[in-house]
Amino acid sequence: MCGIVGYIGQKKAYPILIKGLKRLEYRGYDSAGVALISDNNELNVYKAKGKVSDLQAHCQDKDVSGSAGIAHTRWATHGEPSSTNAHPHYSASGRLALIHNGIIENYATLKEKLIERGIEFRSVTDSEVLVQLIDYVQQSNSLSLLEAVQVALRQVIGAYAIAILDRDHPDTIICARQSSPLVVGLGADGDFFLASDASPIAEYTDKVVYLNDGDIAVMQLGKELQVVNLDNVEQHPKVKQIDVTLGQLEKGGYPYFMLKEIFEQPKCLRDCTRGRINVDHDRITLSAVIDYRDRLISARRIIIVACGTSWHAGLIGKMLIESLCRIPVEVEYASEFRYREPVIYPDDVVIAISQSGETADTLAAIEQARSAGAFVFGVCNAIGASIPRQTTTGVYIHVGPEIGVASTKAFTGQVTVLSMLALAIANEKRTIPGDVYKDMVAELTRIPDKMEQALKTNEQIERLAPIFTYAKNSLYLGRGYNYPVALEGALKLKEISYIHAEGYPAAEMKHGPIALIDSEMPVFVIATRDKLYEKVISNIQEVRARGGRVIALVTEGDEQIRKLADHVIELPDTMECFQPLIASIPLQLLAYHIAVCKGKDVDRPRNLAKSVTVE
Ligand code: M6R
Repeated sequence: MCGIVGYIGQKKAYPILIKGLKRLEYRGYDSAGVALISDNNELNVYKAKGKVSDLQAHCQDKDVSGSAGIAHTRWATHGEPSSTNAHPHYSASGRLALIHNGIIENYATLKEKLIERGIEFRSVTDSEVLVQLIDYVQQSNSLSLLEAVQVALRQVIGAYAIAILDRDHPDTIICARQSSPLVVGLGADGDFFLASDASPIAEYTDKVVYLNDGDIAVMQLGKELQVVNLDNVEQHPKVKQIDVTLGQLEKGGYPYFMLKEIFEQPKCLRDCTRGRINVDHDRITLSAVIDYRDRLISARRIIIVACGTSWHAGLIGKMLIESLCRIPVEVEYASEFRYREPVIYPDDVVIAISQSGETADTLAAIEQARSAGAFVFGVCNAIGASIPRQTTTGVYIHVGPEIGVASTKAFTGQVTVLSMLALAIANEKRTIPGDVYKDMVAELTRIPDKMEQALKTNEQIERLAPIFTYAKNSLYLGRGYNYPVALEGALKLKEISYIHAEGYPAAEMKHGPIALIDSEMPVFVIATRDKLYEKVISNIQEVRARGGRVIALVTEGDEQIRKLADHVIELPDTMECFQPLIASIPLQLLAYHIAVCKGKDVDRPRNLAKSVTVE
């Protein structure tokens, strides 16, 4: 989704802004723009449809001087991708420039009123209304810019993170947040950085302030950061330290972030379990479970809310919690849950899962659960994001920034955290015997090594991938814990290679999808050795009988399926409930290599955004 960058200080703003926009490219966008106050105190606004490199080409012969500026990558919601609709938008007087992430729900009413007062609009976006409104309010009431922002934002309904540059006050940038993230970086020389996530800031400073909803921040040179609310009451946000390193934001020799992130998974899982599984590998300690033990073990029901890949992790969480803790679990798409008047009891525990911690639907589902009095628990990756701040407690997955749009290491991190959570609660509830608990904890610590072994299938999968580039449709089948793996494998393939893929419970295939099977249809079956193994073999037979091409993920040494399948990919054995952590790896690699063979931009698939901050 849209990205925001800002800088004010002694350095040249333009290179910092461009570099920042490039760091935000992973979020998905269709146009970009920059506004600068030049050395001659002029407000220059440049915009281009397409990539940040198109914006750079556009700016080549332009005046990009100045030490104060704001920049934006736009992911179209209102109005087609074009340079006119790109941000920054500037006011009719040419004095103010503004960038915006989010959606202004009452923009049409506000726009109509401004047009009646003679204001001319250039774009068809909801965002332009903000800059025109602020300028109008300021001029007609002779207010300071801060006062005008406060008056204007009181009239606005919707979600926003905004930053405003004022030609008449070149030493100041004002920004504000409501339901859309914004981070201010505090530089060593008194300079200020601004961004929609910490990635553009990390190389300049590790001191940041995460703005809260309703905050307005004034970044004025020579002064401390001032944060107030709409009623001008001083706020005192904490200065935090970013834990993002520059290396995590670079590709590190890999052609794509997605491949780097797939290969990082063994290390990520070690980071995720470090300090949580003790050195003897027989006990899990999660502070959230210690602090809220009674609330968690007495839960009458758990509801998991999430979207996309995080929802798939939630399905695995359901199986883990139900079988280990004997607590009933429902898994809901956050976007459906928020609108269908769900029954939520005060003794429910709602677990919200999100990599970014900023997904609009998941945030709305949390709000709904909170207002019904439920206890809300977050499973998140991005430190300091909105979800960890709006939940009572939770567990970070600690897999580092995920840049590739297709989620990989976040999925395995989420499943690992859910495994630890289920085991910790089960141990407190005594719903599993002590020796089983210990065996499971010990096996969880062996998963990173087994992932390393699974990653060795990369070359085999790279050789197989070209065979499937012809496919228009594909089927992913799995049962039990491997059913969500099938769903996740199908999602990976469709989002980056644009091949239609469906994930199905293998036995359910004969109730419909079997009609699709012919010799053109690749069928990927997750057929590792577990209690449903024999049943899955029957499902493979059903596919073969209809001429389907079977690619099976099997447990190493499996000779039975080798005789049936067109291709087999061997994986190390593990406990059934941890199989998703291993089996998802070859499916991630398969999607990656097929997309590369098809010449697709793996890290920036069309139409997709990394964090979906609008509903
Ligand atoms: O940041 P979140 O985990 O809340 O994001 C949820 C989905 O948007 C995300 O998982 C999406 O489905 C990914 N592109 C899948 O690879």
